Formats: sequence, C-alpha cells, structure tokens
Amino acid sequence: MPTESQPPEGTDSSPAIAAGHWTALERLREIFLSGQPVRGSYWTCREDLEAYDATLGERIGWKWDAVLDELGRLGWCPPVGPLVDFGCGSGVASRRVLGHGSADRFTEIRLIDKSSLATGFAASRLRNLAPGIRVVEAGSADMAEVMAGSTVLLSHVLGEMLPVARRQLASALAGAAAVIWVEPGTHADSRALIAMREELLGSFHPVVPCVHAARCGLLAVGQERHWCHFFANPPVGVLADPDWAAFAAHMGIDLRSVPYSYLVLQRGEPPVPGPGDSGERTRVLGTPRIYKGFSRLFCCAEGGVGELELPRRLDEALYKAIKREEAGSLFRLRSEAGRIQSIEPVPPTQG
Ligand SMILES: C[S@@+](CC[C@H](N)C(=O)[O-])C[C@H]1O[C@@H](n2cnc3c(N)ncnc32)[C@H](O)[C@@H]1O
Repeated sequence: MPTESQPPEGTDSSPAIAAGHWTALERLREIFLSGQPVRGSYWTCREDLEAYDATLGERIGWKWDAVLDELGRLGWCPPVGPLVDFGCGSGVASRRVLGHGSADRFTEIRLIDKSSLATGFAASRLRNLAPGIRVVEAGSADMAEVMAGSTVLLSHVLGEMLPVARRQLASALAGAAAVIWVEPGTHADSRALIAMREELLGSFHPVVPCVHAARCGLLAVGQERHWCHFFANPPVGVLADPDWAAFAAHMGIDLRSVPYSYLVLQRGEPPVPGPGDSGERTRVLGTPRIYKGFSRLFCCAEGGVGELELPRRLDEALYKAIKREEAGSLFRLRSEAGRIQSIEPVPPTQG
C-alpha cells in the first residue's frame, strides 16, 4: 500500500466539487479513458476547467510533485529563461513547477493550448499565484518561436494528439532548452513517450528517469510487454477525505494508485554521470515483486533492461523501504548472474 506524501505549500488537499461538476467530470473521464486522438476541444465553459482542476487535474499534480521532488533530490534545476506550458489545460503543470520553488528562474510563462478557454483559465490562476511573472497566452504564435530557449512542460497531452500534431510538436521542441514531460503510466502512453525520447535525443541529454543516453532498452526485441512507469503518492489526508472518497467512488478511480510516466531532457552537458565505482546507475521500473526472502526488480541500466533478484539479507532496511515503496527508484548497484550483489539508493540516504 503506497504511503502518502506531504502536500507542497499552497495546495488544498480537499477538492471543492460543486453539484453541477459531476456531469462535466463524467464526460471528461470518458474522453480521457478512450485514449483516442481528440479533434476540436472538450472544454465547453469555465466550469469544466474548474471541475477538472479540483479533481482530475489535482491528481495529475501529485505526479508532478513526485517528479519535481526527484529533480530536487538530484539537485537539478530548470535553466533560467521562459517557461512554456504546452497543452496547459487548467495550468496544473506550470503551477506545480512554480510551487516547487523555481519561480525566480522564469522570466515569463507562455501558455499553449488549442482551447483559448483553457489558456484563459490557466493564465488567471497563474497570475494569482505569481503576480510578478508575466503570463502570455501564446494563441496562434509560431510554436517553434514560443518554445525556443524555454523550459517546456507537457502533461497528459500526447495521447490525444493526432500524428501530424505530434510531428509538429517534436520539431518545435527540438529548439527548447529543457523539457519536463509527465504522462499517464499506461503501456500506450509510456511507449508514445519513449518514441518522443528517441526522436528528441539528437537535440538533448536525458536527465530522468533514464540512466543513459543510448537507445531505450525497452525497444529491444522481447521487451514489448514492458513499459517505463512509476507510482506517485497522494498527499497526506487525501485517502481519509470524504470529498476525495466521493470523487473516487463516483468516477471509479483508485486514489491509492497514481501511475505515471515521465521524461526530463536538457540541452548541453550530460547531467547523468556514467558507471561509478560503487555500481552502475540503475532505475527500477514499475512495482517490485515481493517473495519470501527476496524481491524481483525490473531494472533499467546502460546494458539494457531486465529483472534482477534482490535478496532480503543483502540490506534488510533497504529491502523493507523498497517493499514499502519508500526508497525511490534510482540506485547504484552491481549484479552477477541476475542477482544483486550490492545496492545503494541515489542520492545516498543520510545516516
Ligand atoms: C488532458 S488535458 C491536460 C491538461 C494539463 N496539461 C494537465 O496535465 O492537467 C490535455 C490538454 O491538451 C490540449 N491539447 C490537446 N491537443 C493539443 C494540441 N495539438 N495543441 C495544443 N493543445 C492541445 C487540450 O485542449 C487539453 O487542454
């Protein structure tokens, strides 16, 4: 059972769902679950965005918290310059980034969405949160120009884009300074994000979750059924909150399970050091499988992806932390014949 994380400053953990919001939420949920590209816009009025922002959007915010916490632990900051929120919707992604202490790095926030209702809503929320930063609704401006030299945020947008729009996006993103991208943790969304990674690697170095800059190991023959995904924790209080419980029951969503895929890229020097003395940087994907006396971790390292066995006796405290999903997903480890010989979290736990 996942544990709960602390909410970042400024978030209210109880969703204010007005009686009239349910119809909009049900309609939106149907569209999102279909996993099909969307023609036109599904935002019909400001109330749609309010309903989304308080619930489905807030849940997406928990995934952003997990990604931004990890970037903070690794000491990575977005470059100074403009911030772009592509497919901004209600603006969850950019508000989360500002809430994680990066506000002083951004000279301007540029909002892109095919719906002007969405950019208007996101802009008004952002202006309240950060009155000192200029917020621009990019409208029909040239996307490559808007993104050039910027940190571009993308969140839960890829699955609804037509192939032609994906190609235009990839070409505009190639001029960005950094990309922070969060998608649902499904097989299809992860695979779509991996395809984008491969396309963008010519212009960027991966920061997280990748531990190398070579072709993604999940593209190797035989790995088709796997995908790159992780789990975020809801903030403290959510699982006991009656409003969240009503939302979960009504929408058929399990709030304990918040799967996501993500990708952070930057231009310039590679941020991820290569193999070090104490073992190769290794990312554990998905959920560890726990057995009596050992667990199996699906691992990604420069040499490829595959399952490794972690004996409980190797490090009892770390084994328990991994079992409780409290150890993060990045490690330095050595293995021999499919069995882990040494393992240490990255960054190392303070003792
Ligand atoms: C599921 S919402 C996600 C909103 C927000 N990024 C979040 O994570 O909460 C997807 C958003 O992407 C926008 N969108 C979809 N395709 C787009 C495209 N080709 N260009 C710009 N915006 C797009 C939609 O209008 C919608 O606001």
